[in-house]
Amino acid sequence: MRIALIGNGKMGRAIAQLALERGHTVATIVESEENHRGGGLSQARLTGCDMVFEFTRPEAAPDNLLQLARLGARVVSGTTGWSARLPEVSAVVKEHGGALLFSPNFSPGVQLFLRTARDMARRFEGRTGFDGFVVETHHAAKLDAPSGTAVALRGMLRQGDQGREFPVTSIRGGHAPGTHRVTYDAPFESIRLEHEARSRHVFAAGALLAGEWLQGRSGVFTFEQMLFEEDS
Ligand SMILES: NC(=O)c1ccc[n+]([C@@H]2O[C@H](COP(=O)([O-])OP(=O)(O)OC[C@H]3O[C@@H](n4cnc5c(N)ncnc54)[C@H](OP(=O)(O)O)[C@@H]3O)[C@@H](O)[C@H]2O)c1
Repeated sequence: MRIALIGNGKMGRAIAQLALERGHTVATIVESEENHRGGGLSQARLTGCDMVFEFTRPEAAPDNLLQLARLGARVVSGTTGWSARLPEVSAVVKEHGGALLFSPNFSPGVQLFLRTARDMARRFEGRTGFDGFVVETHHAAKLDAPSGTAVALRGMLRQGDQGREFPVTSIRGGHAPGTHRVTYDAPFESIRLEHEARSRHVFAAGALLAGEWLQGRSGVFTFEQMLFEEDS
């Protein structure tokens, strides 16, 4: 793939490094100072690129994605915190025949973890002796809380165990790329299911896999759809 990177932060750099290792070409990198409200994204800037990776900031993503959609680009977006604008963005992607694949978490292991959590929650439905809750921990620079993944996790747990709220506690500090833990706790015992990302390369590798999958496709997709098309 010939890649355009929108955002040159921690994820943009991880994707660039891994893309080169996998034989792809990083054709252009668009940084924030040249891209106010998506104004740096043009057909000329993206000439020769077959896939765009957008990892920026929650407030920047909708303008970037709308502009990329108007250009009919194929885009993988991992930016979190913009889901309220998804219907608007999706409509423009479809109108212009482009493609968007988005996810708050491009770790294949996290996607399996979310389904495992839902299965576990089904076992606890109606067991009133247990309290269910989530704790998520991320590096100090992470802006949003709770994480997009914690919100998705809470949704899956509520699907499995409809009687519980599953409050989320967010911890921000240090350098860890992301840990999510579900606990069912009773007075004399505790059950925990945890996913720990050891490196943000797991997200970069998943995003590149998504880009490879998106080639030749049009429409709006999630990473979950890509991974579990056959078995939801
Ligand atoms: N889906 C996943 O698997 C996954 C994994 C990790 C992180 N994330 C999410 O991905 C996003 C980026 O994470 P990160 O760790 O790379 O953050 P980061 O290190 O803060 O990098 C964000 C970069 O985006 C730049 N930026 C902001 N607005 C821009 C614009 N309009 N055009 C181009 N660049 C712009 C920022 O530049 P300035 O500093 O100059 O503003 C910064 O370099 C966050 O929303 C994060 O939550 C998703």
